[in-house]
Amino acid sequence: MSALRAALMRVLLLTGKGGVGKTSHAIATALGAARHGHRVFLLSTDSAHSLGDALRMPIGARPTEVAPRLVAQEVSVLDEMDRSWSAVQQFLRGLLHEGVDPLVAEELLVFPGLEELVSLRAIRDVEATGDFDVCVVDCAPTGSTLRMLRFPDVLRIFMEDFFELEKRGARLLRPLLQPFRAGSLVPDDDLFDAIERLWNDVDDVRHILLDTSRTSARLVVNPARVVLQEARRSFAYLSLYGVTTDAVIVNRVLPGEAVDGWFARWAERERQTLAEVRSSFPVPLFEAPLYPEELGGLDGLQRMSDALYGDRDPAAILRRDPPIRLVKHAGRTRLEIELPGATKEGLEVGVHGSDLIVRWRDATRVIALPSSVAGRSVGRALLEDGRLAVEFA
Ligand SMILES: Nc1ncnc2c1ncn2[C@@H]1O[C@H](COP(=O)(O)OP(=O)(O)OP(=O)(O)O)[C@@H](O)[C@H]1O
Ligand SMILES: [Mg+2]
Repeated sequence: MSALRAALMRVLLLTGKGGVGKTSHAIATALGAARHGHRVFLLSTDSAHSLGDALRMPIGARPTEVAPRLVAQEVSVLDEMDRSWSAVQQFLRGLLHEGVDPLVAEELLVFPGLEELVSLRAIRDVEATGDFDVCVVDCAPTGSTLRMLRFPDVLRIFMEDFFELEKRGARLLRPLLQPFRAGSLVPDDDLFDAIERLWNDVDDVRHILLDTSRTSARLVVNPARVVLQEARRSFAYLSLYGVTTDAVIVNRVLPGEAVDGWFARWAERERQTLAEVRSSFPVPLFEAPLYPEELGGLDGLQRMSDALYGDRDPAAILRRDPPIRLVKHAGRTRLEIELPGATKEGLEVGVHGSDLIVRWRDATRVIALPSSVAGRSVGRALLEDGRLAVEFA
């Protein structure tokens, strides 16, 4: 019997740059976990689904059994979007017809990150069945996953304004919308309900993603410098958004027998990059070789799973430190955020109301502060040993 049974469902997010091997390793991880006796659900939220191609069998929007204790599904994002977002979209489309700048309305219609987040609601539905111990998610490339993680913050700010408006009476929206000549399109109760439902969904997903006691990301990389550079940033971004990365999977490592002659210099460069990979991430590393043939089908991916995890349980939680934590240090309370590889350039820290705002390069995180420090200003922010420490005055 699975050791995880009766506990919360374990969630593993396989992410990384485009083409590095996310789908292959999501399947390999799921197969390995099923072999260890867990009941596993494998979910693809990348709208360019490829579980079926990699497994060489049809997988669709309905859960399909692919191996003992392993069920797979490719979430149909459009259906999911229709279910939750159509009332809101209708309202925004109405604005479009009322002569709002099409570009502005268009941008509102396509909330970046919403699609993937909506498809991640499937995790909650899988959990609700009570039939699975582990959910492995084949995510879209990192950029899109990070936009998704940013979405709850954006939506929260939007919602606070929105609920504020609701409290003051929806009719107050009328003058607000006048500049758009959309006064007749004041949102009605249905719209408020739709937005509230969406907010609840997003909040559920956010809770699962940020629950470090059961959810972690596995970052797939190739031993190539450009991939490594992006992976370093992704690791820090994930951490900033509160998601633990509990392992890095190095895929397509040249096997020993392939490195003579023509590939000797290539292999030498790869060795240097691998050494950098090992020193870049404070987490366990797993390596899979470059296979001589295109990998696929249950047998091929099972072989990859064995090469990757050996006897280890792929579903194990390999690292428990939460990436964002409140600690006492020299008698003061401070908030620490794990940001390996981050530099001071482009890093900004500030307090806004009871939120801490941390910006690093392209990522902005709004962290709701616990009451013990809420409302206090930032005394000092230090970046040391790959960790940002924020002290409150
Ligand atoms: N270790 C490996 N050896 C040989 N071929 C591999 C290996 N890993 C992945 N591949 C092949 O590389 C291709 C891309 O892999 P995969 O689809 O898993 O990447 P991905 O990161 O999911 O890509 P995308 O970003 O497009 O979703 C596939 O054809 C796969 O069979
Ligand atoms: Mg893929």
